Amino acid sequence: MEIRSGGTRHVVSAEQFPPALLEALFASAGEMARRLRAGGPPLLPGRVMATLFYEPSTRTRLSFESAMLRLGGQVVSTENARDFSSAIKGETLEDSVRIVGGYADCIVLRHPEEGAAARAAAVSTVPVINAGDGRGEHPTQALLDLYTIRSELGRLEGLRVVMAGDLANGRTVHSLIRLLSQYRGLRVTLAGPEELRLPAPAVQALRQSGAEVREAQSLLEAVVDADVVYQTRIQAERLSQPLAAAGQDAARFRVTREVMAALPPGAVVMHPLPRVGEIDPEVDSDPRAAYFRQARNGVPVRMALLASVLGE
Ligand code: NCD
Repeated sequence: MEIRSGGTRHVVSAEQFPPALLEALFASAGEMARRLRAGGPPLLPGRVMATLFYEPSTRTRLSFESAMLRLGGQVVSTENARDFSSAIKGETLEDSVRIVGGYADCIVLRHPEEGAAARAAAVSTVPVINAGDGRGEHPTQALLDLYTIRSELGRLEGLRVVMAGDLANGRTVHSLIRLLSQYRGLRVTLAGPEELRLPAPAVQALRQSGAEVREAQSLLEAVVDADVVYQTRIQAERLSQPLAAAGQDAARFRVTREVMAALPPGAVVMHPLPRVGEIDPEVDSDPRAAYFRQARNGVPVRMALLASVLGE
């Protein structure tokens, strides 16, 4: 399994993962899930992973750290790099990355600016893994999302996927669409507030890949023949001013008991989390609510990715 961007094994975009690589990665993630249950010898002893996070995170940082520790590696971490690292003294991202690369064998980076991971990769001597760059991409979330779809539904072709919520700013959506568009028979229904629509180039790329793209005015209307509902949070921190209309619109795009009643029995509801009201907690006990299982998949998928990036 080979992940390469330039000369090093950076992970910057979901575009780096063709289906054959995804299959290999998912097979490895399955092995990692077994290893989590049954144990096994350390795979990355003596290797060190740095997490450099300039934006808040719970799941991504902790699941990367857990993955590295479970592989027998070690972790150095700055949780709030914007305030606690030398960024506050005016150090550039490029310099910070050069320095941290001297302390660790790979850098997991989260940053508020789109393109930050590519900038870091351009100067880093060790692999950089993009853990979210502004409204750009979040490729490792997309990997665990696709792995979840595959394990929940048993297939990746002929999927009918509803993308809901903040499609303009949701980087997990942008990365997941890139992965999904590689599979035949895809139909994507876009269901979100008017002001938060999927950017035109992404819609165009989807259509060019052969996918059918539709828009829906409400989630209730969108889910009737869906296989996957991928719900997302309005990315309030990326909006220049609160979108009052989007707030009102949001009610039409909530996952409620009524929406679940309209959703086919074999479908799943996913969400990268955190959720802030766009899924009614009453839905949690429905077996089709896959979001907590999805979050758990973050560890084996990131173990497989780290083993591939850092292994021999
Ligand atoms: C997402 C992110 O950071 O983009 N969270 C995550 O990594 N699971 C989604 C979000 O913050 O809404």
